[in-house]
Amino acid sequence: MASKKRILFVCLGNICRSPVAEAVLKSRAQKLGMSELYEIDSAGTIDYHVGDNPDPRMREAAGRRGYALHHRARQIARKDLETFDLIVPMDQDNMANILELDPYDRYAAKVRLLCDFIPGSTGQDVPDPYYGGRQGFDRVIDLIEAASDNILQALLAENAEEREMAM
Ligand code: 4NP
Repeated sequence: MASKKRILFVCLGNICRSPVAEAVLKSRAQKLGMSELYEIDSAGTIDYHVGDNPDPRMREAAGRRGYALHHRARQIARKDLETFDLIVPMDQDNMANILELDPYDRYAAKVRLLCDFIPGSTGQDVPDPYYGGRQGFDRVIDLIEAASDNILQALLAENAEEREMAM
C-alpha cells in the first residue's frame, strides 16, 4: 500500500482561498471514494490571522456551494516543505514567499501554482478576494473546483510509480 499523499494549500492569510481549497479537495476526494489516500491541509504565509476561523464571506460563499469550512489559520513553516508531497500556492506572491523558506531549492519541485492544474491557465493567480466583493469569493471556488481533479490525479500518478517500484 502506497503512503498517504499530503497536500498543503497556501495563501496569504489562510482565511479565504486556502481553507476553501482544503475543503473542496477533501470533499472531492470523499466523493470519489479516495479520502483514505490523502491528507489535505492549508496554511498562510503571514501570521496575522493565526488561530482565526475562515473569513465569514468565504464561509458563506462556500456554504452556498455545499462546503463547510473547519480550519483555524496557521502559518506555513519550513518543516511543511519537508513533510508535504505537494504544496499549492494560490498566487505568485505566495509562491515566492514559500520558496524563500527553501534557499537551496531542495523542495521547489513540490511547489506548484493552483492554476497550473487548470488546462489553459498555467502561471495565473487565484485573485485575492479579501478587499473585493462577493463575486471574488465565488471566482476563487470556481478556479479551485476546476483544478481539483487534476491535483488529485497528479499524486495518484506518483502512487502508481511507488507501487511499481515496490514490486
Ligand atoms: P487569503 O486572503 O490570503 O486568501 O486568506 C487574505 C486574508 C487576509 C489578508 C489578505 C488576504 N489581510 O490582508 O489580512
